[in-house]
Amino acid sequence: MKCHVTRQVPAMMRIALVVAVVHASPAEPLPSSLLGGIGNVANTATNFLTSAVEKPRNLLLNATRMTTGYIDNAASMGLEFKLKRFLEKFRTRMRNGIAELGIPPLEPFTLDEIDIDTDNPEIGKIFLVIENLELRNLSTFLIDRAKLSLIGPTITINISIPEIYASGHYNISGILGDTYPLRGAGSFQTIVRDFRVYVNTVLGYARGMYLKKFDLDFSLRAIKMHLENFMGGEEIGQIMSKVFEDLTPEALDVIKPDILPPIQDYVASHVNETIHHLTMRDLFHVLLGKYEFGDITHLLIP
Ligand SMILES: *[C@@H]1O[C@H](CO)[C@@H](O)[C@H](O)[C@H]1NC(C)=O
Ligand SMILES: *[C@@H]1O[C@H](CO)[C@@H](O)[C@H](O)[C@H]1NC(C)=O
Ligand SMILES: *[C@@H]1O[C@H](CO)[C@@H](O)[C@H](O)[C@H]1NC(C)=O
Ligand SMILES: *[C@@H]1O[C@H](CO)[C@@H](O)[C@H](O)[C@H]1NC(C)=O
Ligand SMILES: *[C@@H]1O[C@H](CO)[C@@H](O)[C@H](O)[C@H]1NC(C)=O
Repeated sequence: MKCHVTRQVPAMMRIALVVAVVHASPAEPLPSSLLGGIGNVANTATNFLTSAVEKPRNLLLNATRMTTGYIDNAASMGLEFKLKRFLEKFRTRMRNGIAELGIPPLEPFTLDEIDIDTDNPEIGKIFLVIENLELRNLSTFLIDRAKLSLIGPTITINISIPEIYASGHYNISGILGDTYPLRGAGSFQTIVRDFRVYVNTVLGYARGMYLKKFDLDFSLRAIKMHLENFMGGEEIGQIMSKVFEDLTPEALDVIKPDILPPIQDYVASHVNETIHHLTMRDLFHVLLGKYEFGDITHLLIP
């Protein structure tokens, strides 16, 4: 399996993080009483811990664990709110792009080329080239979950997009299931329904931020497609498209182990490249509001 993605402009995840960094306004309402209280809890906890040295060691360990859990829970509530706000701001700016950052419009989102070579025992040997891919309505995404935990720190995001309109040129060849030779090249239009994306990432720091861990998953409920000139424009092409449409959620699960790793690497390397000049403090100051929260980086659990 080989999968290669080419794009001249940065990928979406990369932009999501940059936007989060640039568009935070320190004047925004924050649950500052909550977050301010955490500083006190941390001080109290420190005093408690240092004065508790004679107590049995496991009590100390238990107290540390409880304190950590408490700080993380309380702070995470505020962070979740912030993260949601950033994603919402990012969404509103997708159409026009973000000139300050040299980010072009992302609605529509374009990719120059995707090459997929697959040799999957259940599907067959398939060579697919997609050029001039254009995706519309990505900016209608809904935020199903946005969680930022201080432990890690870990970011977890679920978004869903009710309908994505995809178009471009395709060129396919190969053999489906050792039986049917595939051929076709031309324009295509596709509608993807209920597309869901899940991201879970742990941030690391070593002379700049990076992604210590990055998990990505996606799914879709249904797909409608029109492939011009598929199987020479004969009826068999329409039948195969229809079968493929009906099979899509299941077929996607079959090829996902092949296509997910290269997509994950592509997104991760773009995000890595973007955040490597940022410090954890930069990110948290922006995420939390510098003036209202101060520096909490010392609370982060490695
Ligand atoms: C520490 O926590 C464990 C369970 O998490 C508990 O079994 C143990 O009794 C606790 N120790 C003390 C000293 O509180
Ligand atoms: C894309 O989303 C907008 C806003 O939700 C909607 O009005 C529009 O109909 C969608 N585009 C298409 C082609 O359906
Ligand atoms: C499709 O790709 C094949 C090589 O894989 C090439 O020979 C053919 O010209 C391409 N067709 C179009 C229409 O680009
Ligand atoms: C988020 O995505 C994961 C992985 O697909 C899934 O297990 C989980 O139920 C989703 N959560 C929400 C709130 O959508
Ligand atoms: C991000 O970069 C770091 C250091 O360059 C590397 O160790 C890490 O594996 C990269 N993360 C991902 C998810 O590619």
